[in-house]
Amino acid sequence: MSDRVAIILAAGISSRMNTKLPKVLHEVCGRPMLAYVIDVCRQADIEKLYVIVGYGKEQVIEYFGDDKNIVWIEQKEQKGTGHAVMCCKEYLANFTGDTLILCGDGPLIRAETLKTLIEKHQREMSAATLATAILDYPTGYGRIVRDGYGNIQGIVEDGDCSPQQKTIKEVNPSYYCFKNKVLFESLDKVTPDNVKKEYYLTDALHLIIEAGHKVTAVTAVAAEDAMGVNSRQQLSEAGKIMQRRIQDKFMRTGVTIVDPPNTWIDARTQIGQDTVIEPFTYIHGRVRIGSNCRVGPFAHLRDGTVLGDDVVLGVFTEVKNSTLSDGVRARHHSYIGDSQVGKNVNIGAGAITANFDGEKINATQISDNVFIGSGSILVAPINVPAGTHIKPGSTVAAKDLQDKKE
Ligand code: UD1
Ligand code: CA
Repeated sequence: MSDRVAIILAAGISSRMNTKLPKVLHEVCGRPMLAYVIDVCRQADIEKLYVIVGYGKEQVIEYFGDDKNIVWIEQKEQKGTGHAVMCCKEYLANFTGDTLILCGDGPLIRAETLKTLIEKHQREMSAATLATAILDYPTGYGRIVRDGYGNIQGIVEDGDCSPQQKTIKEVNPSYYCFKNKVLFESLDKVTPDNVKKEYYLTDALHLIIEAGHKVTAVTAVAAEDAMGVNSRQQLSEAGKIMQRRIQDKFMRTGVTIVDPPNTWIDARTQIGQDTVIEPFTYIHGRVRIGSNCRVGPFAHLRDGTVLGDDVVLGVFTEVKNSTLSDGVRARHHSYIGDSQVGKNVNIGAGAITANFDGEKINATQISDNVFIGSGSILVAPINVPAGTHIKPGSTVAAKDLQDKKE
């Protein structure tokens, strides 16, 4: 086993979200919250992950099931974050390295912050290190209590704070690095004597200090990143922050986004250089867009859309599970589903693929240089040969094209 592992807490029911779906599967910009937390661990070179699951565990495991470096650990009853970590004891009792602990409901975490946390932990040779954030509105978060010299004394949960402690703005976003042995020794001593009657992970900190070990806190988390998603409001807030990050990344790599607040791009999207995304474009799912394309306004790109280079999709054009090759034009009011579209095909205003026959979804193949007149309906399954000219207002099925050939 390497000398650093991470535990991710993801067993909670989330009563505040009022949901049947496990909280960590709720999506932020198209991906479950937990996916982001797993990603940053990997980016910070932590391979082995122990994920604590409980409520809806089958669904969570199914989603991430292919990842062989995740050990799934069940917490049968949710008795608090400290109890959740204790569920790993049989796996980690003899591990002599460092253990990071993160929460599955903190999707805005960044790999750089984790690296800073690890570095600080090693440099200071601490038994425990936490990364903290300063918030203008700290309500709801555990507060970092320090003595007159700035040394950390412990974390007090919001519900257990004195009026004085409530005014503390330094909070615990739940990013920790522990010497594993010290962690489990101290968790053995945590008791549930608090407002929620839970075993708090945060209580381990003052126990570690009491036992004479060194605990360090580094204010390394930007206020914006610190959010733990406990409600639908926070879920939408996290989505907005993530959306800004996604768009900033695209703009840095040479994509023009004309009106960022009125554009939505899934985290799984790829976009090539000099493509312009016009306002009110909504991209959801695994979507790949080439270079020099123009998408929108009011375009809707769904899962499985692949656009080559120099493709133009205009107002009210929806594309799903389709590949549009270089130079395709679909400027107005089209639906293209389950289609392979060749080069330089022109799809006129209001032309659509009828891909669903009421029972099953059928495929459409349109070869290079086809012209599809406005208002046409291509009834799938259909294969339109290269260069075909379809008159405006046609309803075309496979047999119509065969007739033409004869
Ligand atoms: C927790 C911290 C708080 C911190 C905040 C940051 C504790 C006691 N409090 O509070 O200091 O400011 O996160 O967002 O740790 N979970 C389990 N099993 C349980 C309970 C929780 O796996 O028995 C998981 C949840 O699914 C969640 C995470 O642990 O992913 C945090 O639990 P949550 O109840 O959201 O804690 P907070 O009240 O937000
Ligand atoms: Ca939380």
